[in-house]
Amino acid sequence: MTTPPPLRLLVLCASTRTGSLNRRLAQATADRLAAAGAEAHLADLDDYPVPLYRGDLEATEGVPDGARRLAADLARHDGVVIVSPEYNYSMPGALKNLLDWVSRIKPWPTKGVDGLLMSASTGAVGGHRGLIALRVPLEGNGMRLHPTMFTLAEAGDAFDADGRLADPAQRDRLGLLLKDFLTTVEAAVHYRERFGSP
Ligand SMILES: Cc1cc2nc3c(=O)[nH]c(=O)nc-3n(C[C@H](O)[C@H](O)[C@H](O)COP(=O)(O)O)c2cc1C
Repeated sequence: MTTPPPLRLLVLCASTRTGSLNRRLAQATADRLAAAGAEAHLADLDDYPVPLYRGDLEATEGVPDGARRLAADLARHDGVVIVSPEYNYSMPGALKNLLDWVSRIKPWPTKGVDGLLMSASTGAVGGHRGLIALRVPLEGNGMRLHPTMFTLAEAGDAFDADGRLADPAQRDRLGLLLKDFLTTVEAAVHYRERFGSP
């Protein structure tokens, strides 16, 4: 029997800030995915530059390359992990703007994509409310979101010098969730191989 190719995961960080805590969480996630035998590709919003959505701009110039690039990256991966800060109890406007552009491509590039949501925050709630808000457009546009999410509260103190989660309990929580998510993604890949896209 031939060894199946590794699962390919896009890890998209929705903060571009120097020293971003969400980027650290995204990196720790990519490292754990690689350790589990998957291929993880880290990206952030700068990889998908788009102007502010305006209907008139779409009518004259079409969907910008940045949105088409994200659509292509979703298509060439088996699943996506979105690691996003919470801004004012919701998702960052830049992420919503990118998703709005992507939703103008048909069929929706998010449709049928397996996704996992994560957030790191300096606050005590860990960005959970932002992820709840993020679920709405993603599920509305057909993404199959993992039911459990990963939120990291007080994230400024959460990482050790090697970029790993300092607390072993948090490391276990992340590891178990990623294992669970990879199982779901692998099942979907096998389903598509046998029966095609649903
Ligand atoms: C505009 C803005 C709004 C914010 N709103 C929230 C919030 O609602 N909840 C929260 O936990 N943190 C909030 N924060 C704090 C972020 O959790 C913190 O800045 C975090 O470090 C941002 O993620 P990053 O480090 O990946 O850039 C907000 C930060 C900004 C800049």
